Amino acid sequence: TEFVTVSELATMMDVSVNQLIGTLMSIGVMASINQRLDAETINLVADEFGFQTEYVSAEVQEAVSEEEDDESDLVPRAPIVTVMGHVDHGKTSLLDHIRNTNVIAGEAGGITQHIGAYSVTMKNGRKVTFLDTPGHEAFTAMRARGAQVTDIAIIIVAADDSVMPTTKEAIAHCQAAGVPMVFAINKIDKPGANPDRIREDLANMNLLVEEWGGKYQCQEISAKKGIGVDDLMEKVLLEADMLDLKANPNRKASGTIIESSLDKGRGYVSTVLVSNGTLKVGDIVLAGTSWGRVKAMFNERNQRIDNVGPAEPAIVLGLNGAPTAGDAFHVIDTDQEAREIANKREQLQREQGLRTQKRLTLGDISHRI
Ligand code: GTP
Ligand code: MG
Repeated sequence: TEFVTVSELATMMDVSVNQLIGTLMSIGVMASINQRLDAETINLVADEFGFQTEYVSAEVQEAVSEEEDDESDLVPRAPIVTVMGHVDHGKTSLLDHIRNTNVIAGEAGGITQHIGAYSVTMKNGRKVTFLDTPGHEAFTAMRARGAQVTDIAIIIVAADDSVMPTTKEAIAHCQAAGVPMVFAINKIDKPGANPDRIREDLANMNLLVEEWGGKYQCQEISAKKGIGVDDLMEKVLLEADMLDLKANPNRKASGTIIESSLDKGRGYVSTVLVSNGTLKVGDIVLAGTSWGRVKAMFNERNQRIDNVGPAEPAIVLGLNGAPTAGDAFHVIDTDQEAREIANKREQLQREQGLRTQKRLTLGDISHRI
């Protein structure tokens, strides 16, 4: 069996395609970017990069595999927009501003909980799901898995600073995953702001912004003062329109774990993002080695909800552990099946030991091929 392409494997390991092709060459394999690799080659080359490879058995694969949707079952869904950029460049401030200016009447007053994922209804009535990338963890795990949860990235750069290594890393990740980027040059209200320097930094990376004749949409903003944010969102939605995003709400849910933790009173609490289908209270969810029946779900305003549709985030109670951020989740038919798969995965993990923390799970993406 052949599992993943060179480019997919590079994304999963978070290395450049060129690096991977070079390493393949060094072990005597001439491969092109879209070529699929067999297990033996993957093991060898993953080992070179310090990864252990985990192969999910056919049964597990079947239980979690997703059938293609019929075109006629698909309906438009909200875009998932991730804000990425260097520490302190204003990611959270931008999201705070967007949320505060777009809360619809009746929503206000609820206690806002930080879950790193928000569904916002914009003034024009369109829904957008935003992912903040706080700190790092959540995103490193996602990157490593090549989880392509996001549809569009807002790359934010502070105008009184410059394009930083983290910014570059975020850009490289988007490029590897084929995620369209919209640039936001933030903090233009600051005395030392120099947006042209940012455009120049980007140009030096071969990223020419629109106003300089390039193809990348870019917007000067002040997240703090709210300047340019509406224009930025217009550009993001334009990008979303071109993607023609659709999903099938009438199927078992699958998606990604955004974060999870153990809460004294409530047990394990997981923030999930549904990518397809509808997640319901009572569903049996499997994520990594954790599973459980969904006892209750909440939105980011801490209101109880019974259903979560495509591209929507929710806080889920009921799992028997804390899955890793970036883990895929699936709804499984029976308790027994979920338990068996979780046990199998746990056993695999034990066998492989914790000699290395880095792990590739090929089953999760090979069903797409
Ligand atoms: P991390 O989550 O730590 O990576 O940071 P972040 O990117 O989320 O930055 P955050 O929004 O927390 O903002 C960092 C600091 O910059 C805060 O003190 C903000 O008040 C300030 N800030 C953000 N946007 C602006 C802006 O447009 N203008 C000015 N003057 N300050 C801003
Ligand atoms: Mg932040």
